[in-house]
Amino acid sequence: MMHFVLVLFLALGLAKAEDGSHAWLRYAPVPNPNGYRSLPSTIVALNSSKSSPVYTAGQELQKGIKGIFGKSLSINDTGKGPSSVVVGTAEAYKKNYGEFDEADALDEDGFFLSIEERRVRIIGQNQRAALYGAFEYLSRLAQANFSLVSYVSNPHAPIRWVNEWDNLDGSIERGYAGPSIFFRDGYVMENVTRAAEYARLLASIRVNGIVINNVNANAALLNERNIAGLGRLADAFRPYGVQLGISLNFASPQDFGGLPTFDPLDPTVDVWWANVTNKIYSRVSDFAGFLVKANSEGQPGPLTYNRTLADGANMFARALKPHGGIVMFRAFVYDHHLTPSNWKNDRANAAVEFFKDLDGKFDDNVVVQIKYGPIDFQVREPPSPLFSALRKTNTAIELQVTQEYLGHQDHLVYLAPMWKEILEFDLRVDNRPSKVKDIISSARFNRPLGGSAAVVNVGTNTTWLGSHLAMSNLYAYGILAWNPAAQAEDIIRDWIRLTFGFNRQVLDTVTEMSMKSWPAYENYSGNLGVQTLTDILYTHYGPNPASQDNNGWGQWTRADSVSIGMDRTVKNGTGNAGQYPPEIAMMFENIETTPDNLLLWFHHVPYTQRLKSGKTVIQHFYDAHYEGAATAQTFVTMWESLKGKIDEQRYDEVLFEQVYQAGHALVWRDSINQFYYNMSGIPDQAKRVGNHPYRIEAERMSLNGYEAYAVNPFHTASGYTAIVTTSNGTVGTATANITYASGTYDLAINYYDLIGGKSKYEVLINNRTVGAWTGDLEDRLGHAPSIYLDGHSAARITFKGVKVNKGDTLKIVGFPNGIEPAPIDYVSLLPPGTID
Ligand code: GCU
Repeated sequence: MMHFVLVLFLALGLAKAEDGSHAWLRYAPVPNPNGYRSLPSTIVALNSSKSSPVYTAGQELQKGIKGIFGKSLSINDTGKGPSSVVVGTAEAYKKNYGEFDEADALDEDGFFLSIEERRVRIIGQNQRAALYGAFEYLSRLAQANFSLVSYVSNPHAPIRWVNEWDNLDGSIERGYAGPSIFFRDGYVMENVTRAAEYARLLASIRVNGIVINNVNANAALLNERNIAGLGRLADAFRPYGVQLGISLNFASPQDFGGLPTFDPLDPTVDVWWANVTNKIYSRVSDFAGFLVKANSEGQPGPLTYNRTLADGANMFARALKPHGGIVMFRAFVYDHHLTPSNWKNDRANAAVEFFKDLDGKFDDNVVVQIKYGPIDFQVREPPSPLFSALRKTNTAIELQVTQEYLGHQDHLVYLAPMWKEILEFDLRVDNRPSKVKDIISSARFNRPLGGSAAVVNVGTNTTWLGSHLAMSNLYAYGILAWNPAAQAEDIIRDWIRLTFGFNRQVLDTVTEMSMKSWPAYENYSGNLGVQTLTDILYTHYGPNPASQDNNGWGQWTRADSVSIGMDRTVKNGTGNAGQYPPEIAMMFENIETTPDNLLLWFHHVPYTQRLKSGKTVIQHFYDAHYEGAATAQTFVTMWESLKGKIDEQRYDEVLFEQVYQAGHALVWRDSINQFYYNMSGIPDQAKRVGNHPYRIEAERMSLNGYEAYAVNPFHTASGYTAIVTTSNGTVGTATANITYASGTYDLAINYYDLIGGKSKYEVLINNRTVGAWTGDLEDRLGHAPSIYLDGHSAARITFKGVKVNKGDTLKIVGFPNGIEPAPIDYVSLLPPGTID
């Protein structure tokens, strides 16, 4: 009986609790293993050295086949005979087996995969390519795709890196999944097990480089102990074919080396960098190179000495050149003290202004790494015009897997559709097809180096990114870096099969949720290209549109009482539209030809401006926010429909996040709508904004031990006001008579969950407890915390199916804790099915 249950369990793909650590490499049993009659009987890995990716490939094949089919295959490194899966480099294959016709078709890192009845050949142009082929074969098997095939797969571009913004103290800038897997207390960790597991994940999506530390770099990474640590990490990455890189601080020669200068044209500085570089290579012979953020956001750089950015980049290039290393030099250079009162100022112009005239002046082992849009990882941006301005310079695109402005992994936002829009955008350089994806490869400008980098920021959380569903973004990044022609929906379907198994409903539902998630997030955050509208001065998480304007950061919306948007036209604005090639410039210059979704990026218009849809800008804002927040509610019901079809741990953890997102989407909706209603004075035609018939405002309840509190920003509280306990030692009660008709309601309570306290709450009807909770989201969610009542800390809890009678007494008791004064915003009594 036990056996039967186990078999049934496995057949359904319902493994025991899963913590997410295996990500898409679970190798779960397939439902129809007999569909693959021709499973080879041995594994031949044509390299027996343990640090070799081909050796790793052999191990991985063994592990995968055991998991998927329950069969233990032996591995040897010399085997002949037809019934084997052979993995190796083209060179080793030829040595052992003679001819290999496809060798010439393989580019660097490319592989050949041939699956025949009883023979499988996985042949890489190099070692890691063979490992990529092994992962590809396993991915097919794990998805129960048993077709016989034979094909070559080559990468779109040579650079497929990830950037981790880890600090030496173990914290991670813009990381939402716990502390670093690389550093602790100022040094590289002794234990590199998890770092190796990460390299394995990356190899499976064909990422070939990791920059392990923050672009805001600490020069202490270059001390002896840390260089030894780099050696340990590189040793851990090497079996996976992943090369190590580091971010550098430009001022290191002075701050760390004790030189009087860090001028890139000073010969002593050159020598200093050459020595440091040599030292690194003597410990890490396959070191990938440096990533450099210079003269940006307060970081030092060559401009300090009136040298050009190219002078700065080339200094590192010279040091790396003899070793074959490369410099990823970031184009994210701008002045963050711009004067907002000058209509012509524009941060979006900075990259082209700094880099255009340097085209052709960079050494050939320099790659300029360009964020996908001209500002900073916003929910919608046009591609950076710099992609079209650099023709004689190697370029790479910088994407962000960590959801810095997009919900910190506590909101589901599947990013592949957004990345695809950028990669497929045709910049029409010289009136010729010039898609971004072809500019970052050699296709358009014939530059040999190029590709992609993604800021990932994994942490020690078992899920890697702090959320199971967010891992689809890391997966999609690798797939698109290898092949930008891949479709976002195909990628997510593969990822779901690998992550959750074969249930058709799971596949369709998670696909639907994922594909709707970016549009939904855009709808309930910043629309029409106005930017994300998150708080740019604090956590980059919750809503705070006012934070964009009137400061030097240059992420302006220029919203006033009648109009909104950045005028980036040439005729009347900052001229940014003119930085694009003529056909694109013309499109963005004119309101009529600018797509609605970028209208406010390029134009300053009245709130009453009509969109192509016929709606006004302001009504579009209102409608989009209602629509986006409504979509977020459906993610909960969609996910709930999968109960029993996914292991319990992941089901529960995702459900918790979706419920949280649904609540926070309402915070976004109301906050942004209130803000713009307040600013424009134009009412919502549908009369929803500011009109909430099901709400009981906490400040209107009768309070004991609680007092009203004016929340800042005002629009992050319903009615601008919440309640807090009168002291952090006072228990507060808020009571109200229920005036609604007797019936069954969903009782939703909006409260604020601050870091620095875990208040407890109880909600009672006629002194009967109907719900209780603790304000402990800081332990359960990964987003950057807040110590204030604001749009980051605002949250909702719902108790469903509560019976109330007209005239009953509703009471909330709040027990403050630490600095958290049990804050409450409002209570909603919602007839089932109502959202508000
Ligand atoms: C953003 C981000 C910073 C980061 C910077 C960068 O501004 O908020 O944390 O350092 O980008 O990419 O360099």
